[in-house]
Order: sequence, then C-alpha cells, then structure tokens
Amino acid sequence: MLWPSLAMLDQDGFLSDDLRVVSVAREAVAKTEFLGRVQGAIEKRINKDLEDGTLDRFLKRVSHVALDASDPEWGNKLKAELGDIDTLDIVYFLSVSPTLFKPICEHLETAGLSRAPNRVIIEKPLGRDLASSKVINDSVAHAFEETRTFRIDHYLGKETVQNLLALRFANTVFEPLWNAQSIDHVQVTVSETVGTGDRLGYYDDYGALRDMVQNHLLQLVCLLAMEPPSNFNSDALRDEKVKVLRSLKPITADVVKEVTARGQYGAGFAEGHQVAGYEAEKGSPSNTETYVAIKAEVANWRWSGTPFYLRTGKALPSRTTEIVIQFRAVPHSIFGAAAQPNRLVIRLQPDEDIKLTVMNKAPGLSADGMQLQPLDLSLSLTNAFDSNGDKPSRRRIAYERLILDALNGNNAAFVRRDEVEAAWTWIDGISAAWAEAYPKPQLYPAGSNGPISAHMLLERDKRVWND
Ligand code: BG6
Repeated sequence: MLWPSLAMLDQDGFLSDDLRVVSVAREAVAKTEFLGRVQGAIEKRINKDLEDGTLDRFLKRVSHVALDASDPEWGNKLKAELGDIDTLDIVYFLSVSPTLFKPICEHLETAGLSRAPNRVIIEKPLGRDLASSKVINDSVAHAFEETRTFRIDHYLGKETVQNLLALRFANTVFEPLWNAQSIDHVQVTVSETVGTGDRLGYYDDYGALRDMVQNHLLQLVCLLAMEPPSNFNSDALRDEKVKVLRSLKPITADVVKEVTARGQYGAGFAEGHQVAGYEAEKGSPSNTETYVAIKAEVANWRWSGTPFYLRTGKALPSRTTEIVIQFRAVPHSIFGAAAQPNRLVIRLQPDEDIKLTVMNKAPGLSADGMQLQPLDLSLSLTNAFDSNGDKPSRRRIAYERLILDALNGNNAAFVRRDEVEAAWTWIDGISAAWAEAYPKPQLYPAGSNGPISAHMLLERDKRVWND
C-alpha cells in the first residue's frame, strides 16, 4: 500500500521536487533489484491509472539502505545516508514489528534524528491491551512528542469515512435527527471473505476484537456518535471522539453472553474454495475469535436507548463495509404497516455510496401502494472530477490521504494517544469478560453468515442485521 500510495501522490503533483524516499531494512539489496521490487509493488496495485513517466520520476526519489536495528550505530549510519539533517524535514514511517518501535526511536533520538519538525508514523498493532499499548506509546513519546506522533488507522483515510464528517456537520438536514429520539439503532458491519492467510501468526494472538474492533470499528463509532466539534482542527475533533470512547458502557462478565457474539470459522467454502477451518489452518486448537458482534451502548444524553451493533468477521460470504442508520418508525401511521422506517445506508466497500430510503407512493391507482425507495446520495466516483476539475477522480488508496496529511503535518485524521487508551480500556473489559464467561468461540462454517449467536444478539432486541 505504501509504495503505490507514494507513487500516486507523485503522479498527482503532491510531492515536492526535492522529496526523497529512503527505505531502511535489515536486508541488503542491490539498487536495481530494489527499484524493481518497488516498481512491482506499484504496478501490482495500480495499473490503468499509472501514467507514462510516473514510475521514472518516482523511482529517482527512492534509495535503500540496509541497517539492523540491533546495531548501536543504526542512527549514525542512517544520518550518514540522509546527509545534512539540519536542512531536512523528515517523516519516518515505522512499518515494523512493534518490538522494534522502542529501539528504533532510541536510535533516532540518540542520533538527533527525532528533533522537531521531524515526525513519526506508527501503525497497529500498537499493543494488545492497555498496558502493552502504554509501553509502546511511552517509548515513542520519549523521542517524539504527541503532536509529532501520527498513529495510522487506515479507515480514517477512506473517502467515505472522511465524508461522514461532511455529511453530519456540513448539512442541516441530518443533525437534528441524529440522536436517540429519531434513530432506533445503528449497525456497523465490516465483513471480509478472506481468512487469516499468511497473517495467522500475528492474528492468533489478537483475534477480531483487537484486530478490527479496537481500531477501525470504534473509530467509525466515534465519527457517528461524536458531538459537533467547535472547529475542524485536530484537537477539537479528537476531543469529541475521545468523549465517545469514554462513554461506552463497560461490558461485564454477567452480560457478555447476551451482548456479544464470538465466532471462529470452521471448514466450509469461501471465495469459491474449500476452506479447512481456522484450527486446521493453524494446526492446533485455538480460542481466537475470527468473528465478533457487539451490542455497544454510548451512555450519554444523545444516545441513551440507541444501541450501536458492531460486527466483523473473516471467511464470510461477502466483502462489505457498511453503516446502517435505522430511523424510528413514524409515531402514528395512517398507512398501517405499509409505512416503514427510513434508513440511511453508508457503504464503504465494495463500492462507496450513500443511500437514504424514503417511503413514497408507488405510481398507479392502488389505494395503499406505498414503497420504500432508495435515494442515491451517492459518492460514486464515476461522475466525480478531481479538485482541478480536469480528470475523473480515481478511487484513492486510504494511505494516500494519510501520508499526504503526515507530510503536511496535519494530524486530524490520526489517532491521539488518549483515544487509543480509551478504546483499549473498553476492549480490555470485553476480553476479561470473555475470559471469565465466554472462553470458547462458537464455530461457523466458512462462507456462512457468522455464528448463530450473532443473529440471536439482534433477535433478542426484535431487530435483524441488514443482510
Ligand atoms: C486490517 C486488519 O487493519 O484491516 C486486517 O489487520 C483486515 O485483518 C484489514 O483484513 C481490512 O481492511 P480493509 O481496508 O480491506 O477493510
């Protein structure tokens, strides 16, 4: 994702002429071979959108240096590679195992490479619970203060996710209805067809709760549930987001089986292939969940009584990321049961679009002909043009927006430390409750719609998932 994103930013003129990309890794690779790999990564992801000349221009910016983080001279060697560091504005992207955050930040600090305005981008896993995330954050904070620490959640770079703020706070029509009085419940679904594949080693220690809910799903909940910030600056926004996280009602062992579902995929068919099942892929027993559903409650004035149902899982029948805002029914229907409640469906994947369903009269002479009709408020990019208005927009990789923001020093779309910690606090509560009262996930066949318990979770509230 990183190489294609940088190349696309270059193609669209967002990288200054003197910007260099220096790759650092343990492996020594000859320059031509390294550039060949970078080119391969770009072409694999970008094909028809790659313009003549982009690769040549971009590859001229790229160099590679082999450094081992266990070498005490790491920082000095990097400094030698970079040249006159006093004239540089450096953004580090630590795409490394979390165990290396500490030594690398120490090297950067000792060599004088972490000074302002230099900044650092880090990406999950940033710990597997509150305690371990604090250790990581502390070691990064030693070298880079909070304003220069950019924690990526790639969901925040997605166009439709960014559009949630515009939808809510740049229109007058939605916000007066955006509360428990008008909204019955909210559903957030991130379903994936893939299994855990070659990431099983990492995944088995994390599971769906830590891998997806702690970050991506909770960030979506924040943007959906937050109060309007007083301006668009990064702290005003993140102050409101953290309040949502702190308002999440803790989930304890006595209710955990009613308000959460845990699943693990077993043998079945996914993406047209036979799947052996998670434990068989791992080759040993495991209690790691590959599916989770949660009835989350934002316990504050605006949302009391309106649950946020979250679900995410692997080896499911479709790749869909979707938010459903289910409005309440009219207080008194003169059309009987024909009048169905409105619903706003915000889709992030596979296509990005927004639909509002409204009731209207079906054309014709039938007296009670009513229909629920989707109105397309679509973000579909087919007719959209880029900001210069001269060529059709392509669907950008989420990292493009985030890398560009980091280059420009804008951290609004990055996650602040207090947000991460508030999210972990809630997630740790669920993990502890599971350990006590729900230690084993329920099996679901790969390619099915998840465990029965996820459906029962909504059925108990007389609701259904939007499938
Ligand atoms: C990552 C998770 O953060 O997000 C993966 O670690 C998951 O397990 C991925 O597959 C999903 O991202 P996207 O953008 O494809 O929805």
